[in-house]
Amino acid sequence: MRLFLWSVLALTSLAVAAPGSPSDCAHKVKESVAPPRGWTKTKAAPADHLIELRIGLPQPNFAVLEQHLYEISDPFHERYGVHLSKEEVEALVAPHPESIQLVDEWLASHGIPSDALSRSPAQDWVTIRIPVSMAEEMMKTEYHVWVHDASGAALVRTTSYSLPEHLHAHVDVVQPTTSFARFRRDAATYHFAGDAPAAIKTDAPYISIPSAYNGQVNASCNASITPTCLKELYNAVGYVPAAAGENKLAVTGYLGQNANLEDFHLFNEAFVPEAADSTFDVVYINNGTNDQSPDAAGIEANLDTQYAFGLTYPTPRTFYTTGGSPPFIPDDLTPTDSNEPYANWLEYILSDPSPPQTISTSYGDDEQTVPESYAKRVCASFAQLGARGVSLSFSSGDNGVGDGDSDPATQQCYTNNGLNEHKFIPAFPAACPYVTSVGATWYIPEEVYYISGGGFSNYFSRPAYQELAVDTYLSKLVPGTYAGLYNPSGRAYPDVAAQGQFFNLFVGGVEGQIGGTSAASPTFAGLVSLLNDARLARGLAPLGFLNPLLYAIGAVFPDGFNDIVGGSNPGCGTEGFNATVGWDPVTGFGTPNFGNLKDLVLGDVSAILEL
Ligand SMILES: *[C@@H]1O[C@H](CO)[C@@H](O)[C@H](O)[C@H]1NC(C)=O
Ligand SMILES: *[C@@H]1O[C@H](CO)[C@@H](O)[C@H](O)[C@H]1NC(C)=O
Ligand SMILES: *[C@@H]1O[C@H](CO)[C@@H](O)[C@H](O)[C@H]1NC(C)=O
Ligand SMILES: *[C@@H]1O[C@H](CO)[C@@H](O)[C@H](O)[C@H]1NC(C)=O
Repeated sequence: MRLFLWSVLALTSLAVAAPGSPSDCAHKVKESVAPPRGWTKTKAAPADHLIELRIGLPQPNFAVLEQHLYEISDPFHERYGVHLSKEEVEALVAPHPESIQLVDEWLASHGIPSDALSRSPAQDWVTIRIPVSMAEEMMKTEYHVWVHDASGAALVRTTSYSLPEHLHAHVDVVQPTTSFARFRRDAATYHFAGDAPAAIKTDAPYISIPSAYNGQVNASCNASITPTCLKELYNAVGYVPAAAGENKLAVTGYLGQNANLEDFHLFNEAFVPEAADSTFDVVYINNGTNDQSPDAAGIEANLDTQYAFGLTYPTPRTFYTTGGSPPFIPDDLTPTDSNEPYANWLEYILSDPSPPQTISTSYGDDEQTVPESYAKRVCASFAQLGARGVSLSFSSGDNGVGDGDSDPATQQCYTNNGLNEHKFIPAFPAACPYVTSVGATWYIPEEVYYISGGGFSNYFSRPAYQELAVDTYLSKLVPGTYAGLYNPSGRAYPDVAAQGQFFNLFVGGVEGQIGGTSAASPTFAGLVSLLNDARLARGLAPLGFLNPLLYAIGAVFPDGFNDIVGGSNPGCGTEGFNATVGWDPVTGFGTPNFGNLKDLVLGDVSAILEL
């Protein structure tokens, strides 16, 4: 990617708008947000701090792309599995030429020539790297250093920005401006083996689980998960990947998380002996790192790689490490780039002519920290990947229906919109309708793991594929339940679940255990990758965007998922939602039965599901 590095010297000599140029038009506020809860505005941003400004141009044909996506992902549609090419997707998200021209003219009027811009392949994003002082002038705004009270993380942001009036219809969003996402990993506390919870003793060597492989799971798995446990529990023992030349699986890494290869080796030696000498590819995006010193090993990155890849050997596997992430250190003398790391990863993956068919991500944030305009654009990018045949798995978050206020007496959740309303707090990207959101279970027999993130989006309306399932759930609630706390017409999540506690892993050479929906997402993605393998080995298309298929299965094929019933996902001072028969906003349809799902996706899917 080529970036225009603006020098402050050039600024004084070039940034003179010609009289009568479009930039003379009156500016009008494009977006304004309330000062976010939990953040303190400190000093003005240093004038020479460089920001990578992304300008999102409208995608007038996005509805057409979405229609294609739903058709090719619908097992009852004649186009099921006929994914679009990179070029077809790019044509469908391309902005109107007039938008490109007007934005170019605006940038030129600030001395930025069009050949200095970096553009996404579809030309729907324009990226420039400029000092804060220049961004302030272009958008008639003031950037400040904002400090997150609880974590001390800092961001250079503003709560409002303006654009010349004639550009409003030609620009969807400019970031980083008003986005206060902090982007955390969804892993709960790591325990070294020494403080691991005492194993839950059973007298028998096995726990009887009718849906498991051979109807039983090793009794040790109740308090100690390994890839073998997951294969037993999810009925995947003995499946040998057969499309390793074609099938690929990836996990994403952010926040300086390093995936350690020596730990990966130790893990495989201990738990996946046939893979003991295997490794994975590392792709560095936007100066991402993968420091291999033992004390730099990342818990999240190790968890994701060890489980996603441990379940799928010898499927080719990639770890994407994306840099450019917060925290930004406000007093550091070097100008620091505090960008949105998702944007960098998406730019990379959308440019890849053959992305992996399955990708797992265990990072997210509260939906309300991401401005709606930006969340919609990021989510639309996930739709592009789905249309190209990529299955995206995201952790549903570790805070039940929402992480409450620090006041332990109430644990209330508040909206971030300046009104301080009491509301549940959905997670992003888990609540994007174009991704598969994975909640968590624990213990064997499986139960709801109470941290499992779930609920209803306040930004995205409910997609048709989940209408029946969610309506059925809502009709079981006592009328008035949680009235005003959630958006009953929003996209509901999670879609499915998987084990999410007592995962054995190696970090820095030491064995320990960890849990969280962070563990559930790579587990589910690993099994999806094996389903993709089975299909590719038969010459069938990969599964691509999963949800229309998952909800069709959930409606009529009870053997596809292990329904989790009982328990709830508390948060915001409430008990949260209950896990009920069928879909619920705690564990979705439940956990996968790989063997049954494999038979289904290798068969005549629509005929089986129409029974
Ligand atoms: C159960 O798992 C433990 C730990 O991996 C292993 O040592 C033991 O042999 C297994 N038991 C059976 C009956 O397979
Ligand atoms: C697994 O552990 C849980 C939690 O202690 C317990 O309730 C359950 O009975 C155990 N399962 C078996 C089969 O012992
Ligand atoms: C990556 O690091 C190099 C060397 O420090 C620097 O020149 C370059 O601008 C960085 N690239 C990005 C995208 O931050
Ligand atoms: C959850 O189930 C319990 C027990 O049946 C019931 O009292 C409670 O109202 C339910 N809560 C919700 C939110 O449905």
